[in-house]
Amino acid sequence: MAALLVLLVLVKSCQGIVYNYSNECKIYKLGYPIDEARILAATLTDEQADSLIAHQEHDTIAIPLLGERYFIIDNFHRYIAYHKNDTTDAPLDVIVAMVNMGRDRDWESSAVPCDTSMGQLMLVNGRHYLDEHYKPDSLVTFNKNYCYEGQKAQRAVVDAFMTMQKACKEQTDAQLMVNSAYRSYKDQIGTYKRSPKGYAARAGSSEHQTGFAIDVTSRQHPMRWPFDTSEEGIWMREHCHEYGFILRYTQKQSQIFGFAYEPWHLRYVGLETAKRIHDEDITFDEYYAYYIEPHTKSKGTK
Ligand code: DAL
Ligand code: ZN
Repeated sequence: MAALLVLLVLVKSCQGIVYNYSNECKIYKLGYPIDEARILAATLTDEQADSLIAHQEHDTIAIPLLGERYFIIDNFHRYIAYHKNDTTDAPLDVIVAMVNMGRDRDWESSAVPCDTSMGQLMLVNGRHYLDEHYKPDSLVTFNKNYCYEGQKAQRAVVDAFMTMQKACKEQTDAQLMVNSAYRSYKDQIGTYKRSPKGYAARAGSSEHQTGFAIDVTSRQHPMRWPFDTSEEGIWMREHCHEYGFILRYTQKQSQIFGFAYEPWHLRYVGLETAKRIHDEDITFDEYYAYYIEPHTKSKGTK
């Protein structure tokens, strides 16, 4: 009987020692409640748990992060680091988006050439750049009744715009007009110099150079800001995805892509992608990070 008791005590203390070395216990000792420590230990890989423990990372966002739709386990520590250094009080979904897009790192030093083989899905932003020689293979000029100063774009863009403007005219009686479409690298140098801060990309970082972007207002409201609140401006925002366009620089997501809200700037991505971006309410940068980049050769260049 006594021997049995000794054995039980030994087993118990062994279990205690083993438990002390478990990730759950170590995470608990960082200050997480036991139920959270259990969830984290079960979710994180040993390597991630080791890093959490080594960095003594105790953060209130650790558990809520796991429930974020676009949470990527490999980015776990970067989300926490971003949150710790963030002075803007960014909501969790923004923190996740920023890190997933690599905006927690210096974009210039981690810049990669734009993968132009993606065609209408090529991503151009502060990190994915076009060189000064890039020019789309063929460009089509918009009918002069629908644009100012002979603007050009890719054929698919011109066709989709014509279908969209017809529907807009039928439903609002207003005539959509293209203000600016394809811009060469050199044109963009001028645009950047002339534009207020936050409204133009540096040359090489503008998707106008792809021929897939257009700036749209209307004949009735040619100035950009009244266009924004006009019936046709609102119509375009709500319906452009039905024609393969997305509003690239939305008000809600300006922190994510890093430019000011541009209610006039449409990007052509095709019907399927436009619908998905619209339905998921994400930026094209995020779409690319989740659905394209992991399947392309640029994987791992983050
Ligand atoms: N206005 C957008 C950001 C551009 O210059 O491409
Ligand atoms: Zn634009």
